[in-house]
Amino acid sequence: MRHILLVIALLAPLASSAKLSSDVSKIPASVRTLKELHRGPPMQLISKRANVETRWISQKLDNFDEDNEEVWDDRVLINEDHFVDGSPIFIYLGGEWEIEPSPITAGHWVDIASEHNGSLVYTEHRFFGQSVPIKPLTTANLKYQNVEQALADVVNVINVLKEEEKYKNSKVVVQGCSYSATMAVWIKKLYPDVIVGSWASSAPLQAKVDFKAYMKVVGQAYRELGGDYCYNIIDNATSFYEDLFENGQNAEAKKLLNLCDNFNENDQHDQWQIFSTIANILAGLAQYQNPANYDLAKHCSVLRSFSTDDATALSKFIQWRLDNPECVNTVYKATVKYYKWAMHNYDGSSLSWFFQTCNEFGWYQSSGSKNQPFGSSFPATLYTDTCKDVFGSKYTAAKIEKYISEKNKVYGGVNPNVENVYMTHGGLDPWHPVGAGAAQGATIIPQASHCSDMGSISAKDSPAMLASKQRVAQLVREWLA
Ligand SMILES: *[C@@H]1O[C@H](CO)[C@@H](O)[C@H](O)[C@H]1NC(C)=O
Ligand SMILES: *[C@@H]1O[C@H](CO)[C@@H](O)[C@H](O)[C@H]1NC(C)=O
Repeated sequence: MRHILLVIALLAPLASSAKLSSDVSKIPASVRTLKELHRGPPMQLISKRANVETRWISQKLDNFDEDNEEVWDDRVLINEDHFVDGSPIFIYLGGEWEIEPSPITAGHWVDIASEHNGSLVYTEHRFFGQSVPIKPLTTANLKYQNVEQALADVVNVINVLKEEEKYKNSKVVVQGCSYSATMAVWIKKLYPDVIVGSWASSAPLQAKVDFKAYMKVVGQAYRELGGDYCYNIIDNATSFYEDLFENGQNAEAKKLLNLCDNFNENDQHDQWQIFSTIANILAGLAQYQNPANYDLAKHCSVLRSFSTDDATALSKFIQWRLDNPECVNTVYKATVKYYKWAMHNYDGSSLSWFFQTCNEFGWYQSSGSKNQPFGSSFPATLYTDTCKDVFGSKYTAAKIEKYISEKNKVYGGVNPNVENVYMTHGGLDPWHPVGAGAAQGATIIPQASHCSDMGSISAKDSPAMLASKQRVAQLVREWLA
């Protein structure tokens, strides 16, 4: 059984990458790996199909301008299999991804909903999946893309449902994972009377431009779950490549890493881009590892198996994660060009999420921490420069800092000051440093990763995981009482 699960864990991310590369053949490795980091919540094992219905809810383009009467259709998925008239609405909030039936078909939230005869609703966030309010996605049109508009959309979905007799007296609880967990906290802050309670799994709350602690936790996960040897391979191989660039052996580095011809080995942004891409690929594995499946231990043995030479092993591992491309495309100009192309050729999520990072949150996973194995070659400037080159000269580093500090002023960072919100984090989730800690009342589940507590209660749960799942089920009973 354990072996079967390990194989599934290894194959799952590959299958999704394969799909991505065939959909958008020219997507640069740097964009693709970032997009992987922002894919939807882990898929649930589904033992029984649910009747998930799709509905389109009319939304205002601008929820805060009475004079603007433009509307668009927002996609919502609904599972009423457990629903009995008047019982609660359990919303699962969509984040920076395309929604699909899994989170309202199986998992702990579904189990809790079923205990209360609840209806399950999954809302798609504007500018993701099939819920696009306006095209093209130019900087001017993206002014309608922000968390306040998205939260108002969710409230409108609730209002539309409550016009139906069967939902008239229904209480509403919400759950979210990752950025949608952030939304689960903030919706309770902005609309405390609409929502009776909220479960935020892995919510980043403190907006931050230079998010150095992220890679530090990724490194820690490799060390704790993969072993010192694994951390050292990554660390040594990265230093080896950094030294090649520093010592003028750029062509050699380019060859060993199989970088495409147009990679300008003397361009600093191109160099930043390759090191960030390597780190993001390894981070993607850590972000969604399951300690019970030994995911990182397994990936580390694959890494070692490619070569006894660290630099070769890392390069081959990266090629493998990218489905062995002819060459690795991490050219900075190609990344900017791709995002500009995506303005007129909507690609699902990468551009609209990248816009939100420039305009609201930052969270650039830089090499700024000394305590991580990914070197020191990708400052947050790589990303703030991308903001400027894609969205316009207005997006200077100083402006981005200002936007981000405004968000923290509105929402209070890790001290959101909300009631009836249960926050959970994995102890090895690289996002947890920008989330609430134990001091702010969050529950930290040791060794767990990002959004790792969504599954049904299972024999594989650690005692802390089990306790947390039981706690949230109990809290929902209290909120709905
Ligand atoms: C759920 O529905 C069943 C069948 O209608 C009913 O017997 C039960 O009391 C309901 N439970 C709750 C918590 O409302
Ligand atoms: C570090 O990596 C280089 C390149 O792969 C290799 O030659 C060297 O032996 C490694 N050093 C250690 C201490 O493993």
